[in-house]
Amino acid sequence: MIHFDEQKKLFHLQSKESSYVMEVVKGYLLHRYWGGKISTFRTPANRLFIKRSFAPYADPDQPGFSLSTLPLEYPAYGNGDYRHPACQVQLTNGATVSDLRYLDHRIYKGKAKLSGLPATYVEDDNEAESVDIRLKDALTGLVVTLTYNVFRDFDVITRSARFENKGSDPVKLLRTLSANVDFRDNRFDLLTFYGSHNNERNVSRHSLQKETSVIESARGASSPQHDPFFALLRKGAGEDYGEVFAFSLVYSGNFSAQIEVDQYRTTRASIGINPFDFSWKLDPGEFFQTPEVVMVYSGRGLEGMSHTFHCLYRSRLARGAFRDRLRPILINSWESTYFKLNEQKLLAIAEEAKKVGIELFVLDDGWFGHRDNARSSLGDWVVDKRKLPHGLGWLSKRIHAIGLAFGLWFEPEMVSPDSELYRRHPDWCLHVPGRPRTLSRFQLVLDLSRKEVCHYIVDSVSKILSEADIQYVKWDMNRHMTEIGSAVLPSDRQRETAHRYMLGLYSILDTLTARFPDILFENCSSGGGRFDPGMLYYMPQTWTSDNTDAVSRLKIQYGTSFIYPPVAMGAHVSAVPNHQVGRLTSLDIRGHVAMSANFGYELDLTRLTDQEKEIIRKQVAFYKEIRPMIQFGKFYRIESPFEENEAVWSFVSEDRSETILFYFRVLADPAPPVRFVTFKGLDSSALYENVATGEVFGGDELMHVGILIPAEKGDFRSYVLRFRKNSR
Ligand code: DGJ
Repeated sequence: MIHFDEQKKLFHLQSKESSYVMEVVKGYLLHRYWGGKISTFRTPANRLFIKRSFAPYADPDQPGFSLSTLPLEYPAYGNGDYRHPACQVQLTNGATVSDLRYLDHRIYKGKAKLSGLPATYVEDDNEAESVDIRLKDALTGLVVTLTYNVFRDFDVITRSARFENKGSDPVKLLRTLSANVDFRDNRFDLLTFYGSHNNERNVSRHSLQKETSVIESARGASSPQHDPFFALLRKGAGEDYGEVFAFSLVYSGNFSAQIEVDQYRTTRASIGINPFDFSWKLDPGEFFQTPEVVMVYSGRGLEGMSHTFHCLYRSRLARGAFRDRLRPILINSWESTYFKLNEQKLLAIAEEAKKVGIELFVLDDGWFGHRDNARSSLGDWVVDKRKLPHGLGWLSKRIHAIGLAFGLWFEPEMVSPDSELYRRHPDWCLHVPGRPRTLSRFQLVLDLSRKEVCHYIVDSVSKILSEADIQYVKWDMNRHMTEIGSAVLPSDRQRETAHRYMLGLYSILDTLTARFPDILFENCSSGGGRFDPGMLYYMPQTWTSDNTDAVSRLKIQYGTSFIYPPVAMGAHVSAVPNHQVGRLTSLDIRGHVAMSANFGYELDLTRLTDQEKEIIRKQVAFYKEIRPMIQFGKFYRIESPFEENEAVWSFVSEDRSETILFYFRVLADPAPPVRFVTFKGLDSSALYENVATGEVFGGDELMHVGILIPAEKGDFRSYVLRFRKNSR
C-alpha cells in the first residue's frame, strides 16, 4: 500500500481506488498527486520548475524552483511561500521563520495511537500501512513528523503532524495544522456544512473563487455554525458521479480550514486547530501532537464519499460494546416534563413506554441539586430529593421492574454560579483576571485544562453511575467558551487553554467510557452543536438537533448524512405543535423521519389518545423489524430537501436482500407531477417483493423505472416502500 522509490525519493500511497504521491526534491517534500488510483507515477518534478516573476528561488541555480509556486506537502512560514502555511513557529528571539527539510522516514504496518487524541484505528495491523516522514528545521532542532495511514479496506488516508523540540531552546508553535494539500488547479466546487442551534448542517456548495474561503470555529467547540469538514468536488460531480476530495477533522474544539486559490489558479487546502488565539510553548524534549484529519477520495461522487465515511466512522472510529450492537429505542423526558419532574410522572411515562414497546427510559435535565430552571445546580451532581425522594437507585430499579433500561442526563463540563461547586471553587471556571465572567444559559464553563477539575468530573459522574443501575448516559454541553483563560497556566501558556480543555475532556471521556464499558453514551451539545468525529470516538451516537420538527429534520438529517452514519444520529418523535417551530405534522411523518436514524420518542405518552398510542406501538414494532438495515445497512440520498419540495432516501441491507425507501413531500402541490421514485444499491438481477402489497419487481426496474408515488392531497406527507428479495 505504501511504496518508496529510493532512487527518486518518491512516496506512493495506494488505497483501494486512490493514489497519493509525494516526492523529496532538493530536500523539500513536494506534493505530487492525489486522485484516482494509478499504478506508477513517472512525471518528473522538473516539469513544475516554471520561472515566474516575484518568485523567490529556493535553489539559486534553478530559478524555477520556488517554494512560492511548487505544490508543498507541509509548508512552513517565511522563506518564499506566500500562501497560508501549514505551520508557523516562533523562536525565543521572536523570529517566526522556519525551514523544514526532509530528514528520514519509516514505513510500518498498522496504525499507531495518537497521544491523548481521538483517532481512527485498526484492529489488526494488516488493515493499514503507515509512514512517518520526518522534517527538520536545522536552526532550532525542531522535528516535525508527518504521519500518513493508508487503510486497506477504505479509500481513506489519515494524516496528522507531531512537533518535537529536539533543540536546546523553547519554541512557540503558532500554527500547527493537521494537513495541507496543494491541488494543481482550481476547477472545484467547495462543499461545506453550516448552521446554528436548531438548524444544523445545511448544505453549502459553490464554485471556488480566486480568493481564500475559510470555515472555522473559535467558540471552543466544533460548533453548529460549521462542521469541521469540507470537500472539493470536481466541476459537475454530483451525488453518484465525479471526483470528490473530502477532509474531516477528528477534533471537537476550535478548528480552521482554508481553501486558497492563488495567482496561478492552484488550490491550497488545509485544516487543523484554529491558529486564532492559539499558541503552544514547546520546551526542549517536549512534543505536540495535532489532531487527525481523515481524507477521503471518491471517484463515485458524494454517495461514494459518504459510504466511506459511514463505514469508517461506524467501524473504525466509534468504539466500545455498542459499536456493533443494535441501539435501543428510547424515550427521553425533556420535552414532556422539562424541569418539572417527579417520581410519579416519570414512572407513569415509563409504564406507557413499555406498553408501546420502547426499550430505554432516559431521565433528562432537572434531577439534581435544586434545578427548577436553567439558572442553577450544574456541577452539583447529587439527586434532588424534593423531586426524587427515593433517589436514583430506587428510580432505576422501578424503571427496570417496568421492563425498561434506565438512562441519565449530565452536563459535566459546566458550572452554575448558583451551585455548591462554584461557591467552593470559584476559580475552577474559564476566566481571565479583571474581566467579568460572561454567562450563557446562566452558566460558566469549567476549566478542563486543570487536572483537579477533570478528577472532580470523573469522580462525581462515576459516583452516580455506580450508585444507580444505569445503562445510558446523555452527555450534554450547552454553551460556548468566553474569557478563555486558566487560573493555573503561566502567562506565556494562556493561549493553550482551549486545546488543553479538549485534551482534558478527552481524558475524562477515556476514563469514564473505559470504567463503564456497558453504558451507552450519547453525545449532545444543545443537539448537534458538537457533532464531530472526535466525540464519535467516545460516544457512538449524538443527539442530532434540539429541533425535533419533522420538516426541519429532513434537511438536518440529510445534511448530517454526508459525513455521519444514520446510526450515529439520534432522532425522536415529539409532540405537536412542535416545541421549536410550532408546526403541526402527523404522527406518520414524525415517525418516518425519526425512524430514518437512531429512533426514539420525546413526548408525554400519558397525554396521548389510545389511537395515537396504537400508532406509536406500530411504529416501534416496525422500527424493530427494519432496525438492522437502518443502523447497519447502506444509506442512499435520492432527492435533496435543499433543492426540492420533497426528500427521498433509502436504506439497503448489507447483503442487498432488503431495502426501505422513505419519500417525503413538504407542501401539497396544486399541479402534482406523475412522480416515480427510483431505488438505489439493489441487486439488478434479483426480484424484489413489496412487503406491503406482495407486488414483485426486478431490482433493475426498481432502480431505473421506480415506483409511482400517489398524488394525495395535504402538506407534510410521507410514504414508505419496503422491498425484500423474492426467493421464488
Ligand atoms: C439541551 C439538549 O439538547 C436537550 O435535549 C436537553 O437535554 C436540554 N439541553 C436540557 O437542558
